[in-house]
Amino acid sequence: MVRACFHVTLTLLLLVIHAASLEFNYQQLGHTGNFFNTSGDVKPQGGLLKLTNNEPRSYGRVIYPKLLHLWDKNSGKVTDFATHFSFTINAPNETHHADGLTFFLARPDFPSPDPRDGAGIGLASREQLLKPNYTKEHPFVAVEFDTYVNEWDPEYPHVGISVNSIGQSDTAQWSPSLEERVYNADISFNSSSNKLSVIFTGYKANVVIKGNLSSVVNLRDILPDWVEFGFSAATGNYYEEHALSSWSFNSSFDMEQQKGGSKRGLVIGLSVGLGVGVLIVILGVTFLVRRMLRTRDYLLRPTIRQAVQVLSFEVPLPTLTPPVPFFTNNTSFSSMASVTPPFANSQPVFSQSSSTLEVISPGAAYLHTY
Ligand SMILES: *[C@@H]1O[C@H](CO)[C@@H](O)[C@H](O)[C@H]1NC(C)=O
Ligand SMILES: *[C@@H]1O[C@H](CO)[C@@H](O)[C@H](O)[C@H]1NC(C)=O
Ligand SMILES: *[C@@H]1O[C@H](CO)[C@@H](O)[C@H](O)[C@H]1NC(C)=O
Ligand SMILES: *[C@@H]1O[C@H](CO)[C@@H](O)[C@H](O)[C@H]1NC(C)=O
Ligand SMILES: *[C@@H]1O[C@H](CO)[C@@H](O)[C@H](O)[C@H]1NC(C)=O
Ligand SMILES: *[C@@H]1O[C@H](CO)[C@@H](O)[C@H](O)[C@H]1NC(C)=O
Repeated sequence: MVRACFHVTLTLLLLVIHAASLEFNYQQLGHTGNFFNTSGDVKPQGGLLKLTNNEPRSYGRVIYPKLLHLWDKNSGKVTDFATHFSFTINAPNETHHADGLTFFLARPDFPSPDPRDGAGIGLASREQLLKPNYTKEHPFVAVEFDTYVNEWDPEYPHVGISVNSIGQSDTAQWSPSLEERVYNADISFNSSSNKLSVIFTGYKANVVIKGNLSSVVNLRDILPDWVEFGFSAATGNYYEEHALSSWSFNSSFDMEQQKGGSKRGLVIGLSVGLGVGVLIVILGVTFLVRRMLRTRDYLLRPTIRQAVQVLSFEVPLPTLTPPVPFFTNNTSFSSMASVTPPFANSQPVFSQSSSTLEVISPGAAYLHTY
């Protein structure tokens, strides 16, 4: 029983800790159904999620359905995050193709490019980017994989780290292949150094080559505390097909939107509540065993061996009163709050934490972490 209770405690604590950071891994984006929020021309195709069609002025965005908790308003602490994704670009017309793909973080409800053109790679239109206040109202930070050389670009396809603009970015040369090849990218943000880094692959004479780029970006000064995040791609007069094939992501803290209650409070409440619970179970068992050993009636007195067997789950408890409830993983918290003696004494502790537990049940924790 002690072991079972420790197990329940440990499982719950792990679930709570796990729920406190965001982590997911999709190896086959074409089979994710309607899980992501999409806009524009996004559609599954084979194992891929196609962002644009191979036609002029196509546009697509895929964002994670939940917001990312980028920084904490109370502590000012910014999350670390890391993401890996792979994508393909298919450009049948080798001389006239555009525009590329981005991974971006933006203020929630980031508007679509209007009118549709490829200049802002699906983040904003040329016109919107030229409006003085547009990106103040709709800030974004993006890592762009730019296949087209606009007038503001370096004279080659490039990877860039862009803040509220496309074109005034830190860039590194990139060599995309124009056939349908897979590119890999790793992007990470280190909140101690404010460094946003990207490692990417390209092709030179059919050989995979690696490039990298990093830039100091103070995310907290640019973006709100909760952001949407995902991918954009677009074509203009020239076009190519962009498709995502896999995406994994992890962040170091707090993903779930907290309305009111604090997660820290929940963790402390759970730990204290369950810690006290385990202690009570240990005391209860000790008390029971002592009683068993002290029973006057010779016939009823169990041997020490039996007691040891009970403790190590080899035999069931002898029918001595009071009965002790047995907790399993399925035991709900509300039933823990209303257990019979010897737990009755501890009821205030349990009911105190069970009210917090209603906020996130272990089941809900599973639902929120993919
Ligand atoms: C995704 O779409 C759902 C349903 O429309 C919406 O409630 C949710 O806020 C969206 N998520 C983001 C990050 O915009
Ligand atoms: C988070 O992602 C990084 C980079 O992809 C990886 O090195 C790290 O192991 C991941 N952490 C977890 C907990 O998955
Ligand atoms: C590529 O596109 C340009 C402009 O639309 C066109 O003039 C050219 O013929 C195309 N090339 C091929 C090989 O389709
Ligand atoms: C842009 O914002 C500034 C202040 O932030 C304001 O004075 C100005 O009128 C705005 N311009 C437009 C066109 O909205
Ligand atoms: C983040 O940057 C700090 C300071 O430069 C460094 O000490 C730390 O190792 C970095 N963390 C990771 C995960 O790279
Ligand atoms: C980044 O690229 C430079 C050469 O451009 C290379 O020396 C360095 O090792 C690379 N760093 C990483 C982390 O790949």
